[in-house]
Amino acid sequence: MNISVIGAGYVGLVSAVCFAELGHTVIGVDNNPEKLLALDEGKVPIHENLLPELLQRHLGHRLTFSSSISHAVRESDVIFITVGTPQSATGHADLGYVEAVTREIAKHITSMKLIVEKSTVPVRTSDAIRRTMTLNGASPRLFSVASNPEFLREGSAVTDFLYPDRIVIGVEDSFSEERLREIYSPLCDGSYYRREDLIPGCGASAAHFIVTNTNSAELIKHTSNAFLAMKISFMNAIANIAERVGGDVDQIREGVGADRRIGTSFLNAGIGYGGSCFPKDVLAFRAVAREVGYDFDLLDAVMRINKDQRHQFLRKVRDALWTLRDKRIAVFGLAFKAGTDDVRESPAIEIVEALVNEGCLITAYDPVAMPRALSELGLRVGENTVRMASDPYIAAEDVDAVLILTEWNEFASLDLPRLHSQMRLPVVIDGRNLYRPEVMEAAGFVYYSVGRAAVFPLGRLNAMPELLIDEAACLSHQAG
Ligand code: NAD
Ligand code: UDX
Repeated sequence: MNISVIGAGYVGLVSAVCFAELGHTVIGVDNNPEKLLALDEGKVPIHENLLPELLQRHLGHRLTFSSSISHAVRESDVIFITVGTPQSATGHADLGYVEAVTREIAKHITSMKLIVEKSTVPVRTSDAIRRTMTLNGASPRLFSVASNPEFLREGSAVTDFLYPDRIVIGVEDSFSEERLREIYSPLCDGSYYRREDLIPGCGASAAHFIVTNTNSAELIKHTSNAFLAMKISFMNAIANIAERVGGDVDQIREGVGADRRIGTSFLNAGIGYGGSCFPKDVLAFRAVAREVGYDFDLLDAVMRINKDQRHQFLRKVRDALWTLRDKRIAVFGLAFKAGTDDVRESPAIEIVEALVNEGCLITAYDPVAMPRALSELGLRVGENTVRMASDPYIAAEDVDAVLILTEWNEFASLDLPRLHSQMRLPVVIDGRNLYRPEVMEAAGFVYYSVGRAAVFPLGRLNAMPELLIDEAACLSHQAG
């Protein structure tokens, strides 16, 4: 099949490369010349596992890049739209990029095409695409519009794309269904999984292919993201209760998640969800519901708990360090989650900004997200309040506390004695629960985490007169 994918960002680039991997001929289109230049040289502009290898494999053969939508429309049977749908000032999804691309497609269409919205969009966007196509001169006989929401996660985008639980297509006619079935057939009939050069360790069960109408497909995407965000907020709320009464959120997760109706995934308490999807999609879904006359206020609670989770974390930093002005803090992790260099809506960046505003001096380390974080925090870095370090131990030199803000594996296997020896005070505040409290206590750290009691290694701390925490406070914390 000849496919074009318009918008070569996280979703578009992964989709384009993976469609080529499935045997299709693909044109990836973007209007960012720097991105195109890099891609043409085989350089992947984002950090995503396996993407460089697959780009190398297909670039110049089944996969090319272009800045021209007219070229893409001419050369392909199926056109996927994967441009951004960011949050607008009103909380709705900003569909300006989708509209611009639709108009451009309409101008160049001369034979039958299938247009597929893969960007995350509010329900009834496919109707708007159809209208816009016609208004801009495309004959309704020359196109169909379908929805094919994308469920990949950053950090595991390639394997999520090639080994999905399900593929959802929303269609209004058999032409669209047949084309999309053909495109995804290697993932649904198992033929892709039987190949020799499989990405190892992914299991090999064929994806469920789910066919709905376009409105349902659009709703499935918003529902999925809102539901997952709700699971995270629910567990963060439970973590707050557990902390106050001496419960342990890890044990609660295990006990609750063993019920197959609930499952353990997306029940990790932490500093709240971030990224370019959940925050904007929950807000946009709330706006959609309001517009159609339903008050989905459960989503308000999901968002409120999420925002509050950052404040709960900052409260712990204050508890541990008392005053914050001029305190030296090492931050481990800037990306919104592990496995990506994406810092969009990263809780870590928000926390760093809040601490800088309170006068802290930050030294940060992230395995891959520092360049993007630098541009996000540009001004602050210029003011010398945030420095980047080349490894976690250098970041921890002479600090009053280490904050763990992204769940990178690297931070879950630190050399604890070495870390301890680097720090001025052995205080670790872990927003991702990467360690068991008893392990940190044995290693001599004051350790705060999420949904579990803080630990204070009394014997060792008594030997450190400069530490701010007195024994009485420690005992009351341990009792709590
Ligand atoms: P992104 O910002 O990384 O990429 C969008 C790309 O579109 C950019 O490269 C931009 O240059 C390009 N673009 C914008 N206007 C264009 C135009 N007129 N012509 C050609 N290219 C144009 O966005 P993303 O993270 O890939 O998200 C894209 C969509 O997919 C969004 O709706 C998002 O909600 C959804 N989504 C994202 C993820 C994710 O993990 N990032 C997962 C599932 C769904
Ligand atoms: C999400 C959806 O999972 C994916 O299906 C959709 O296509 C795009 O949006 P992504 O944002 O890439 O994917 O990452 P995800 O793994 O969902 O994590 C989102 C945020 O939730 C991160 O900040 C992560 O740290 C946080 N999270 C996730 C938790 O706090 N606890 C969890 O249990 C899981």
